[in-house]
Amino acid sequence: MQPAQSSDHSEDSSPRSAAERVARPIIGNSWSLRQALKQVEIVAPTDATVLVLGETGTGKELIARAIHDASPRGQRPFIKMNCAAIPSSLLESELFGHERGAFTGAVAQRIGRFELANGGTLFLDEVGEIPLELQPKLLRVLQERELERIGGTRTLRVDVRVVAATNRDLRGMVGTQRFRDDLYYRLNVFPIAIPPLRERPEDIEALVHHFVDQFARRMNRDIDLIPDETLDALRRHPWPGNVRELENVIQRAVILSTGARLTLPPISIEPGPQSHLKEPETLKGVERAHIARVLEEANWVIGGPRGAAARLGLKRTTLHSLLKRLGLARPPDASGAELDARRSCYPLEHMHDENCAVG
Ligand SMILES: Nc1ncnc2c1ncn2[C@@H]1O[C@H](COP(=O)(O)OP(=O)(O)O)[C@@H](O)[C@H]1O
Ligand SMILES: [Mg+2]
Repeated sequence: MQPAQSSDHSEDSSPRSAAERVARPIIGNSWSLRQALKQVEIVAPTDATVLVLGETGTGKELIARAIHDASPRGQRPFIKMNCAAIPSSLLESELFGHERGAFTGAVAQRIGRFELANGGTLFLDEVGEIPLELQPKLLRVLQERELERIGGTRTLRVDVRVVAATNRDLRGMVGTQRFRDDLYYRLNVFPIAIPPLRERPEDIEALVHHFVDQFARRMNRDIDLIPDETLDALRRHPWPGNVRELENVIQRAVILSTGARLTLPPISIEPGPQSHLKEPETLKGVERAHIARVLEEANWVIGGPRGAAARLGLKRTTLHSLLKRLGLARPPDASGAELDARRSCYPLEHMHDENCAVG
């Protein structure tokens, strides 16, 4: 096999030491995250293809690396390829490589990602973006473990474990013929779903502490006070960008905090989760969405004959504790910052009880 060569889109990483591995811990103790981690533990030692499903920023790449690290291939290369970041005309050559002169502009031979990942793991991120015409070729290498470089005549055998990830509803894409069913079944051997952060607000506190420690250390700051109201506000935010968004907010907060107390910046609410993922929807997610809709309809009035509690057939106090548990809070209305349905910005610190007082 040829030595690895660098490329413009290369996101290769060499085998990492044990110390580097613990530098990437997966934080959170919610039931749903623990379920996902149990799946990781079960599947890691095998060579099975894994499909990691979840909205953007939920930690799919972190999970893919954890699978690799805990596998017998852990000391071999982990090669990442983001199928959405590479123009589709270049994808084939990125995946399978090409021989010199294979097409106009192919001035030198190129080793593809499958070859680079030989003996290790190939992480196919955003696999739903693979163009239809390329899908049979991907299926072939997954099934036969062999490929030819573009313009090449030699068949090369590769020993690669594939972990794929998507925030798309791949099954839905199969239904609308945007994704081949045979490739879908081949990838979906062992699916692991990572729930969105808004469905596991109990993970937020530990994540906040983790990110505060991390950024404070990097920026040489001493922050040891995270006010309860701040944590409450963070638990209530819907986090359409999930853990990545939380991480960015905490980074800004650490920059803004001059003393020992964490100061939150205003954070923006993007229009809903970017995910097209409809499956699998948790019972809690469905419950939350339904209650949010009823609250909107009732104008966030909880009590009274036309209030949300009555509409839901719940006692007022029951609904109050449900809202707390689900992390649902009233957005600031016209009296505060105006909540534009498409994009709005309001200080999280204003999300405490008094502003979210309902009923
Ligand atoms: N459970 C977690 N614990 C610690 N960091 C996390 C966790 N989930 C996500 N992150 C961090 O959030 C960011 C986004 O995660 P990533 O794996 O890239 O998400 P995705 O691939 O689903 O978009 C990364 O910086 C990652 O380290
Ligand atoms: Mg990602």
